[in-house]
Amino acid sequence: MIYVENLKKEFKKVIKDPGLKGSIKALFHPKKEIITAVDDISFHVPKGEILGFIGPNGAGKSTVIKMLTGILTPTSGECRINGKIPQNDRQNYVKEIGVVFGQRTQLWWDLPLTETYSVLKEIYEVEESAFKKRMAFLNEVLELDDFIKSPVRTLSLGQRMRADIAASLLHSPKVLFLDEPTIGLDVVVKDNIRNAITKINAEENTTVILTTHDISDIELLCKRIVMIDKGKNVFDGDLHELKTKYGQMRELTFETDTRDVKNVLSYKEHFGFADDDFSIEADGSLVKIRFNSAVVPVSEMLSYTLQKISVKDMSVKEADIEEIIRRLYKQGV
Ligand SMILES: Nc1ncnc2c1ncn2[C@@H]1O[C@H](COP(=O)(O)OP(=O)(O)O)[C@@H](O)[C@H]1O
Ligand SMILES: [Mg+2]
Repeated sequence: MIYVENLKKEFKKVIKDPGLKGSIKALFHPKKEIITAVDDISFHVPKGEILGFIGPNGAGKSTVIKMLTGILTPTSGECRINGKIPQNDRQNYVKEIGVVFGQRTQLWWDLPLTETYSVLKEIYEVEESAFKKRMAFLNEVLELDDFIKSPVRTLSLGQRMRADIAASLLHSPKVLFLDEPTIGLDVVVKDNIRNAITKINAEENTTVILTTHDISDIELLCKRIVMIDKGKNVFDGDLHELKTKYGQMRELTFETDTRDVKNVLSYKEHFGFADDDFSIEADGSLVKIRFNSAVVPVSEMLSYTLQKISVKDMSVKEADIEEIIRRLYKQGV
């Protein structure tokens, strides 16, 4: 369905010396610097899959999405969606895809939503009966009723995002690109949006590429993830695989007397943990230790703890996916 092959994007940026003199110099003798935002990225997405496309800020995610949607042209490499190269036939291509950039809206600021949707209906050439049915469906899953007659500028962020997602789905696209659709939203709206994505995907077998910083989005929606960093592929596989491959982090929690501080602080030195393999947090008498069980087995951590510290309510659990990803980002793998 979606083929991304050795995709690369360079931006030329004019660099200028500071101050007015620098600005003038840059105007007449521009010094250019090349930024490689996307540096050889490849992945495939089969039809009907929801792919979590993740990576730290500045990794190149949005730039990839912009190339996939035809907004930007790749410097080299290729993307093909449903057999089409986005840049070659944008007019027809946009009828097959839906796009939402969470950071900005595609809706007309001063128009009521209903009118915006009517305009989109014309642009995408959706038939009247199909449009009515579609609106009823979107209304239901995204709960647009309360604000569908209001101008876009009066909507809250959560309402606007639901409205944007509805707009992107109006023409029943085969592929949906969502770039940070839950950014800045409260839990209720996030839930609503996740349910909508699940429903659309289940009912219409829509292929979805989802960029997000919210790990819950990924856990709830995506079986598979592609992770990139500095414009390069870092991981491609299912979430479960990521957990077993990198998921050796454990979290040891206990309560202790504050007099035990010295012993509590002795783990790192005693076991010789590297920075990435160990962290400790204390909140009053509650101590939380994250450690890499591939470096020191859980049993050893427990016995050391019991020997050295008088503890209450000790527990060990697997680190969650958020922890794993934070670690991966930090290491750059
Ligand atoms: N139009 C542009 N001109 C110059 N540099 C850009 C442009 N768009 C993005 N970049 C740079 O490319 C890199 C990747 O950006 P982006 O794709 O937005 O990352 P992400 O979405 O993963 O946070 C960043 O270093 C960013 O500053
Ligand atoms: Mg981005």
